Amino acid sequence: MHNRRAYVITTRRAHGAIRLPFGWGMGQVRGMLRPEILDYYARGGETDRLAEGSGRLEFLRTWDILTRALPSPPARILDVGGATGVYAAPLAEAGYDVRVVDPVPGHVAAANEIPGVTAVQGDARDLAEADSSADAVLLLGPLYHLPDRSDRLTAWREAARVARPGGVVAGAVISRFASLFDGVAKGYFAEPGFTGIVEGALADGVHRNDGNRLEWFTSAYFHRPEEVSAEATEAGLSGVRTLAVEGPVWIAGERLTDMLASPDLTVVMLDMLRRVEHEPSILGASSHLIAIGNAPG
Ligand SMILES: C[S@@+](CC[C@H](N)C(=O)[O-])C[C@H]1O[C@@H](n2cnc3c(N)ncnc32)[C@H](O)[C@@H]1O
Repeated sequence: MHNRRAYVITTRRAHGAIRLPFGWGMGQVRGMLRPEILDYYARGGETDRLAEGSGRLEFLRTWDILTRALPSPPARILDVGGATGVYAAPLAEAGYDVRVVDPVPGHVAAANEIPGVTAVQGDARDLAEADSSADAVLLLGPLYHLPDRSDRLTAWREAARVARPGGVVAGAVISRFASLFDGVAKGYFAEPGFTGIVEGALADGVHRNDGNRLEWFTSAYFHRPEEVSAEATEAGLSGVRTLAVEGPVWIAGERLTDMLASPDLTVVMLDMLRRVEHEPSILGASSHLIAIGNAPG
Protein backbone atom coordinates (compact mmCIF):
# COMPACT_ATOMS: atom_id res chain seq x y z
CA MET A 1 0.00 0.00 0.00
CA HIS A 2 2.87 2.34 0.80
CA ASN A 3 6.48 2.92 0.04
CA ARG A 4 7.57 1.48 3.38
CA ARG A 5 10.87 3.36 3.58
CA ALA A 6 9.18 6.69 2.95
CA TYR A 7 6.52 5.85 5.48
CA VAL A 8 9.06 5.12 8.21
CA ILE A 9 10.31 8.67 7.86
CA THR A 10 7.09 10.61 7.38
CA THR A 11 4.80 9.14 10.03
CA ARG A 12 6.71 10.73 12.89
CA ARG A 13 4.34 13.63 12.57
CA ALA A 14 1.42 11.36 13.51
CA HIS A 15 2.69 11.56 17.07
CA GLY A 16 2.74 14.27 19.61
CA ALA A 17 1.12 17.19 17.83
CA ILE A 18 -2.37 16.90 19.29
CA ARG A 19 -3.71 19.02 22.14
CA LEU A 20 -5.93 16.98 24.44
CA PRO A 21 -8.73 18.48 26.50
CA PHE A 22 -8.34 15.81 29.17
CA GLY A 23 -10.70 16.08 32.08
CA TRP A 24 -13.70 16.84 29.89
CA GLY A 25 -16.78 14.66 30.32
CA MET A 26 -15.15 11.93 32.41
CA GLY A 27 -18.38 11.08 34.20
CA GLN A 28 -19.81 9.68 30.97
CA VAL A 29 -17.26 6.89 30.68
CA ARG A 30 -17.25 5.31 34.13
CA GLY A 31 -19.65 2.58 32.96
CA MET A 32 -17.24 1.59 30.18
CA LEU A 33 -13.89 1.67 31.97
CA ARG A 34 -12.66 0.86 35.47
CA PRO A 35 -11.62 4.06 37.32
CA GLU A 36 -7.90 3.26 37.30
CA ILE A 37 -7.98 2.64 33.53
CA LEU A 38 -9.75 5.94 32.96
CA ASP A 39 -7.23 7.71 35.22
CA TYR A 40 -4.36 6.08 33.32
CA TYR A 41 -5.58 7.32 29.94
CA ALA A 42 -6.61 10.71 31.31
CA ARG A 43 -2.91 11.43 31.85
CA GLY A 44 -2.54 11.71 28.10
CA GLY A 45 0.09 9.01 27.56
CA GLU A 46 -1.42 7.80 24.30
CA THR A 47 -0.36 10.99 22.57
CA ASP A 48 3.28 9.93 22.30
CA ARG A 49 3.43 6.34 23.62
CA LEU A 50 4.45 4.98 20.23
CA ALA A 51 6.91 7.72 19.33
CA GLU A 52 10.18 5.99 20.24
CA GLY A 53 11.90 2.86 21.52
CA SER A 54 9.77 -0.27 21.80
CA GLY A 55 6.65 1.85 21.24
CA ARG A 56 7.98 2.98 17.88
CA LEU A 57 8.67 -0.64 16.96
CA GLU A 58 5.13 -1.58 18.02
CA PHE A 59 3.75 1.14 15.75
CA LEU A 60 5.87 0.27 12.72
CA ARG A 61 5.21 -3.45 13.00
CA THR A 62 1.47 -2.94 13.55
CA TRP A 63 1.39 -0.69 10.51
CA ASP A 64 3.34 -3.25 8.49
CA ILE A 65 0.81 -5.95 9.45
CA LEU A 66 -2.20 -3.73 8.78
CA THR A 67 -1.00 -2.67 5.35
CA ARG A 68 -0.85 -6.33 4.30
CA ALA A 69 -4.18 -7.33 5.88
CA LEU A 70 -6.47 -4.43 5.00
CA PRO A 71 -8.27 -4.02 1.68
CA SER A 72 -6.81 -1.32 -0.55
CA PRO A 73 -8.17 2.20 -0.11
CA PRO A 74 -10.73 3.58 -0.52
CA ALA A 75 -12.45 1.50 2.13
CA ARG A 76 -14.25 2.17 5.40
CA ILE A 77 -12.37 1.29 8.59
CA LEU A 78 -13.80 1.30 12.08
CA ASP A 79 -10.96 1.78 14.58
CA VAL A 80 -12.38 0.62 17.92
CA GLY A 81 -10.17 1.69 20.82
CA GLY A 82 -8.41 3.99 18.38
CA ALA A 83 -7.38 6.41 21.15
CA THR A 84 -5.99 9.69 19.81
CA GLY A 85 -5.90 8.35 16.26
CA VAL A 86 -2.35 7.06 16.08
CA TYR A 87 -3.36 4.60 13.35
CA ALA A 88 -6.43 6.50 12.15
CA ALA A 89 -4.25 9.44 11.05
CA PRO A 90 -1.98 7.52 8.65
CA LEU A 91 -4.92 5.39 7.49
CA ALA A 92 -6.89 8.52 6.57
CA GLU A 93 -3.79 9.92 4.90
CA ALA A 94 -3.58 6.72 2.87
CA GLY A 95 -7.11 7.27 1.55
CA TYR A 96 -9.29 5.31 3.96
CA ASP A 97 -12.52 6.59 5.46
CA VAL A 98 -11.79 6.11 9.18
CA ARG A 99 -14.06 6.27 12.18
CA VAL A 100 -12.63 5.99 15.70
CA VAL A 101 -14.66 4.65 18.63
CA ASP A 102 -13.18 5.12 22.10
CA PRO A 103 -14.61 5.59 25.61
CA VAL A 104 -12.14 8.29 26.70
CA PRO A 105 -13.47 11.76 25.81
CA GLY A 106 -10.03 13.30 25.40
CA HIS A 107 -9.08 10.58 22.92
CA VAL A 108 -12.27 11.18 20.94
CA ALA A 109 -11.69 14.92 20.86
CA ALA A 110 -8.11 14.47 19.65
CA ALA A 111 -9.05 11.95 16.96
CA ASN A 112 -11.79 14.25 15.72
CA GLU A 113 -9.16 16.90 14.96
CA ILE A 114 -7.48 14.65 12.40
CA PRO A 115 -8.43 15.44 8.79
CA GLY A 116 -10.47 12.63 7.26
CA VAL A 117 -11.26 11.00 10.63
CA THR A 118 -14.50 11.06 12.59
CA ALA A 119 -14.55 9.90 16.20
CA VAL A 120 -17.29 9.02 18.65
CA GLN A 121 -17.42 7.91 22.24
CA GLY A 122 -18.35 4.25 22.58
CA ASP A 123 -17.67 0.78 23.90
CA ALA A 124 -16.32 -2.17 21.90
CA ARG A 125 -18.99 -4.37 23.50
CA ASP A 126 -21.90 -2.29 22.21
CA LEU A 127 -21.07 -0.50 18.98
CA ALA A 128 -23.55 1.99 17.55
CA GLU A 129 -22.52 1.13 13.98
CA ALA A 130 -24.88 -0.65 11.59
CA ASP A 131 -24.39 -4.28 10.55
CA SER A 132 -21.93 -4.78 7.67
CA SER A 133 -21.10 -1.07 7.60
CA ALA A 134 -17.28 -1.32 7.55
CA ASP A 135 -14.81 -3.01 5.23
CA ALA A 136 -12.53 -3.65 8.19
CA VAL A 137 -12.71 -3.32 11.97
CA LEU A 138 -9.69 -2.78 14.24
CA LEU A 139 -9.71 -3.76 17.92
CA LEU A 140 -6.26 -2.51 18.84
CA GLY A 141 -6.66 -1.92 22.56
CA PRO A 142 -10.10 -2.87 23.92
CA LEU A 143 -9.36 -6.60 24.26
CA TYR A 144 -6.65 -6.07 26.86
CA HIS A 145 -8.92 -3.94 29.02
CA LEU A 146 -11.67 -6.59 29.22
CA PRO A 147 -10.63 -9.16 31.85
CA ASP A 148 -13.83 -11.24 31.45
CA ARG A 149 -13.68 -13.64 28.54
CA SER A 150 -17.39 -13.13 27.86
CA ASP A 151 -16.76 -9.39 27.39
CA ARG A 152 -13.92 -10.09 24.96
CA LEU A 153 -16.14 -12.45 22.97
CA THR A 154 -18.82 -9.76 22.87
CA ALA A 155 -16.27 -7.27 21.52
CA TRP A 156 -15.11 -9.72 18.84
CA ARG A 157 -18.76 -10.45 17.91
CA GLU A 158 -19.57 -6.77 17.66
CA ALA A 159 -16.59 -6.26 15.37
CA ALA A 160 -17.71 -9.23 13.23
CA ARG A 161 -21.26 -7.83 13.06
CA VAL A 162 -20.11 -4.39 11.91
CA ALA A 163 -17.64 -5.75 9.33
CA ARG A 164 -19.12 -6.60 5.94
CA PRO A 165 -19.28 -10.32 5.09
CA GLY A 166 -15.70 -11.46 4.56
CA GLY A 167 -14.39 -8.15 5.91
CA VAL A 168 -11.18 -8.03 7.93
CA VAL A 169 -11.23 -7.93 11.73
CA ALA A 170 -7.90 -7.40 13.52
CA GLY A 171 -7.51 -7.50 17.29
CA ALA A 172 -4.39 -6.77 19.36
CA VAL A 173 -3.61 -8.32 22.74
CA ILE A 174 -0.72 -8.21 25.20
CA SER A 175 1.28 -11.38 25.86
CA ARG A 176 0.80 -13.22 29.16
CA PHE A 177 4.55 -12.93 29.74
CA ALA A 178 5.07 -9.27 28.85
CA SER A 179 5.23 -7.90 32.40
CA LEU A 180 7.73 -10.59 33.43
CA PHE A 181 10.13 -9.65 30.61
CA ASP A 182 9.54 -5.92 31.06
CA GLY A 183 10.25 -6.20 34.78
CA VAL A 184 13.60 -7.89 34.15
CA ALA A 185 14.60 -5.44 31.43
CA LYS A 186 13.71 -2.37 33.51
CA GLY A 187 14.61 -3.56 36.99
CA TYR A 188 11.07 -3.43 38.39
CA PHE A 189 11.43 -6.65 40.40
CA ALA A 190 13.55 -4.71 42.90
CA GLU A 191 10.53 -2.55 43.71
CA PRO A 192 7.82 -3.49 46.23
CA GLY A 193 4.62 -4.80 44.71
CA PHE A 194 5.83 -5.64 41.23
CA THR A 195 6.54 -9.34 41.80
CA GLY A 196 2.98 -9.89 43.06
CA ILE A 197 1.55 -8.15 39.99
CA VAL A 198 3.51 -10.46 37.69
CA GLU A 199 2.60 -13.55 39.69
CA GLY A 200 -1.07 -12.62 39.36
CA ALA A 201 -0.81 -12.15 35.60
CA LEU A 202 1.01 -15.46 35.15
CA ALA A 203 -1.65 -17.25 37.18
CA ASP A 204 -4.83 -16.03 35.49
CA GLY A 205 -3.87 -13.40 32.92
CA VAL A 206 -5.21 -10.48 34.94
CA HIS A 207 -2.62 -7.73 35.42
CA ARG A 208 -3.83 -5.81 38.46
CA ASN A 209 -2.31 -2.38 38.85
CA ASP A 210 -4.62 -0.24 40.92
CA GLY A 211 -1.74 2.03 41.93
CA ASN A 212 -0.24 5.06 40.30
CA ARG A 213 2.91 3.54 38.80
CA LEU A 214 2.20 4.67 35.26
CA GLU A 215 5.11 2.66 33.80
CA TRP A 216 3.55 -0.56 35.13
CA PHE A 217 0.55 -0.01 32.81
CA THR A 218 -2.96 -0.21 34.22
CA SER A 219 -5.40 -3.05 34.94
CA ALA A 220 -5.45 -5.34 31.95
CA TYR A 221 -5.79 -8.87 30.64
CA PHE A 222 -2.70 -10.59 29.21
CA HIS A 223 -3.39 -13.41 26.72
CA ARG A 224 -1.64 -16.70 26.17
CA PRO A 225 -0.91 -16.93 22.42
CA GLU A 226 -3.43 -19.71 21.79
CA GLU A 227 -6.23 -17.85 23.61
CA VAL A 228 -6.58 -15.00 21.17
CA SER A 229 -7.27 -17.09 18.08
CA ALA A 230 -9.63 -19.31 20.09
CA GLU A 231 -11.64 -16.25 21.16
CA ALA A 232 -11.80 -14.77 17.66
CA THR A 233 -12.84 -18.11 16.17
CA GLU A 234 -15.49 -18.71 18.84
CA ALA A 235 -16.88 -15.26 18.05
CA GLY A 236 -17.50 -16.35 14.47
CA LEU A 237 -14.44 -15.15 12.55
CA SER A 238 -12.90 -17.48 9.99
CA GLY A 239 -9.31 -18.06 8.92
CA VAL A 240 -7.91 -16.59 12.13
CA ARG A 241 -4.13 -16.32 12.31
CA THR A 242 -2.03 -14.84 15.14
CA LEU A 243 1.09 -12.77 14.48
CA ALA A 244 3.87 -11.64 16.79
CA VAL A 245 4.06 -7.83 16.57
CA GLU A 246 7.51 -7.05 18.00
CA GLY A 247 8.81 -10.59 18.61
CA PRO A 248 11.35 -10.66 21.46
CA VAL A 249 13.30 -7.63 20.26
CA TRP A 250 11.13 -5.12 22.14
CA ILE A 251 13.28 -5.97 25.17
CA ALA A 252 16.03 -3.83 23.59
CA GLY A 253 13.96 -0.82 24.72
CA GLU A 254 15.64 2.55 24.26
CA ARG A 255 18.37 1.04 22.04
CA LEU A 256 15.63 0.65 19.45
CA THR A 257 15.34 4.42 19.23
CA ASP A 258 18.84 4.67 17.70
CA MET A 259 18.25 1.74 15.39
CA LEU A 260 14.89 3.04 14.20
CA ALA A 261 16.42 6.45 13.50
CA SER A 262 18.09 4.77 10.52
CA PRO A 263 15.64 4.11 7.67
CA ASP A 264 17.93 1.38 6.30
CA LEU A 265 18.15 -0.48 9.61
CA THR A 266 14.43 -0.03 10.14
CA VAL A 267 13.63 -1.69 6.85
CA VAL A 268 15.95 -4.60 7.73
CA MET A 269 14.34 -5.01 11.16
CA LEU A 270 10.83 -4.97 9.72
CA ASP A 271 11.78 -7.55 7.09
CA MET A 272 13.35 -9.80 9.73
CA LEU A 273 10.40 -9.61 12.08
CA ARG A 274 8.02 -10.28 9.24
CA ARG A 275 9.84 -13.56 8.55
CA VAL A 276 9.18 -14.85 12.08
CA GLU A 277 5.79 -13.28 12.77
CA HIS A 278 3.96 -16.65 12.46
CA GLU A 279 6.59 -18.67 14.33
CA PRO A 280 4.77 -20.35 17.27
CA SER A 281 7.89 -20.37 19.47
CA ILE A 282 8.15 -16.56 19.10
CA LEU A 283 4.55 -15.62 19.90
CA GLY A 284 4.70 -15.67 23.71
CA ALA A 285 7.89 -13.60 23.77
CA SER A 286 6.32 -10.77 21.79
CA SER A 287 4.90 -7.92 23.82
CA HIS A 288 1.87 -7.66 21.53
CA LEU A 289 0.08 -10.15 19.30
CA ILE A 290 -2.41 -9.42 16.56
CA ALA A 291 -5.09 -11.89 15.50
CA ILE A 292 -6.64 -11.37 12.08
CA GLY A 293 -9.73 -13.08 10.72
CA ASN A 294 -12.66 -12.54 8.39
CA ALA A 295 -16.26 -11.76 9.25
CA PRO A 296 -18.79 -14.49 8.46
CA GLY A 297 -20.90 -14.47 5.33
C1 LIG B 1 -3.32 1.21 24.78
S1 LIG B 1 -4.61 2.06 24.01
C2 LIG B 1 -4.37 1.55 22.31
C3 LIG B 1 -4.59 2.69 21.38
C4 LIG B 1 -4.29 2.38 19.91
N1 LIG B 1 -5.39 1.65 19.30
C5 LIG B 1 -3.02 1.62 19.75
O1 LIG B 1 -3.05 0.46 19.31
O2 LIG B 1 -1.95 2.17 20.07
C6 LIG B 1 -6.12 1.21 24.42
C7 LIG B 1 -7.33 1.98 23.97
O3 LIG B 1 -8.50 1.14 24.14
C8 LIG B 1 -9.53 1.95 24.63
N2 LIG B 1 -10.52 1.11 25.30
C9 LIG B 1 -10.44 0.53 26.52
N3 LIG B 1 -11.56 -0.16 26.77
C10 LIG B 1 -12.37 -0.02 25.69
C11 LIG B 1 -13.66 -0.50 25.35
N4 LIG B 1 -14.37 -1.24 26.21
N5 LIG B 1 -14.17 -0.16 24.15
C12 LIG B 1 -13.45 0.61 23.28
N6 LIG B 1 -12.22 1.07 23.55
C13 LIG B 1 -11.69 0.77 24.75
C14 LIG B 1 -8.83 2.95 25.57
O4 LIG B 1 -9.61 4.08 25.83
C15 LIG B 1 -7.57 3.25 24.76
O5 LIG B 1 -7.77 4.32 23.92
